[in-house]
Amino acid sequence: NWSMADFIDLQIEKIRKQVGNRKVLLGLSGGVDSSVVGVLLHKAIGDQLVSIFVDHGLLRKGEADQVMDSLEGKFGLNIIKVDAQKRFLDKLTGVSDPETKRKIIGNEFIQVFNDEAIKLQGIDFLAQGTLYTDVIESGTDTAQTIKSHHNVGGLPEDMHFELIEPLRTLFKDEARELGEKLGMPEALVWRQPFPGPGLGIRVIGEITPEKLEIVRDSDLILREEIKNAGLDRDIWQYFTVLPGIRSVGVMGDGRTYDYTVGIRAVNSIDGMTADFARIPWDVLQKISVRIVNEVAHVNRIVYDITSKPPATVEWE
Ligand code: XMP
Repeated sequence: NWSMADFIDLQIEKIRKQVGNRKVLLGLSGGVDSSVVGVLLHKAIGDQLVSIFVDHGLLRKGEADQVMDSLEGKFGLNIIKVDAQKRFLDKLTGVSDPETKRKIIGNEFIQVFNDEAIKLQGIDFLAQGTLYTDVIESGTDTAQTIKSHHNVGGLPEDMHFELIEPLRTLFKDEARELGEKLGMPEALVWRQPFPGPGLGIRVIGEITPEKLEIVRDSDLILREEIKNAGLDRDIWQYFTVLPGIRSVGVMGDGRTYDYTVGIRAVNSIDGMTADFARIPWDVLQKISVRIVNEVAHVNRIVYDITSKPPATVEWE
């Protein structure tokens, strides 16, 4: 009879045996998987675990602080936080093609991570939050599988690590259960899926600091109201997008010419297909009123009622 408590004990024993008194490196993305690995490893080997958390400036509001407060503050992980917002934004200036943006963000992420990793001495292992589904998707079951479609990319070329992947027999819901058993906060463990390129693909077209702020602030309002309505566990993924169109509105005695914000909310099992979520009208109204009132330069809200296919979940 399989129990999560046994799993934790077994993994801790296994990790200790494998690592001995050597050191392990972990790339934290702010997501569930790498965070759970971080807490588990820290429980097993304490400060022999060194984590790198790259803040690319494309995270949701408060997310970087939340990761640091919880993982460093509460769980005591040794985390090197890299503030790379400017570096990413500079690279993205003038770029509007979605796949080019993805590539730039992915490559830059690997570079920032490697720049930090190379400064560290005497690391023998690299830990990753690879799940069973990642193992299947990548079509290989060797120890060298790298979770390339997620935040943590390739290894520094002249560094040779052994991989530690304690979640590779688990499904997502089991990883969440593990997180809960380890005492991690609900907000971290039940975090909705969030793409590696982050808000970078939710500002449609060219990314500017102003547009990022609109997406970030409107997204926070959406999240707050979904939670207030008690829907946060019911909807698989929900976020706002900034399509970059502006339209005419009226405020007081004057006309406005401001941005439209899109609300996207879907239900899905695995992201491969998705059905748009039926958020009640009164909840949508509250969200709409709050975003227009509280976020500067927004005068219109639209609700995405397409499913996948034919649309995708993200707008880019
Ligand atoms: P799409 O837009 O392809 O999204 O229907 C399906 C799921 O995948 C997420 N997504 C990504 N995740 N890097 C990621 O790590 C990406 O480039 C990326 N693009 C989409 C999306 O948020 C949804 O959960």
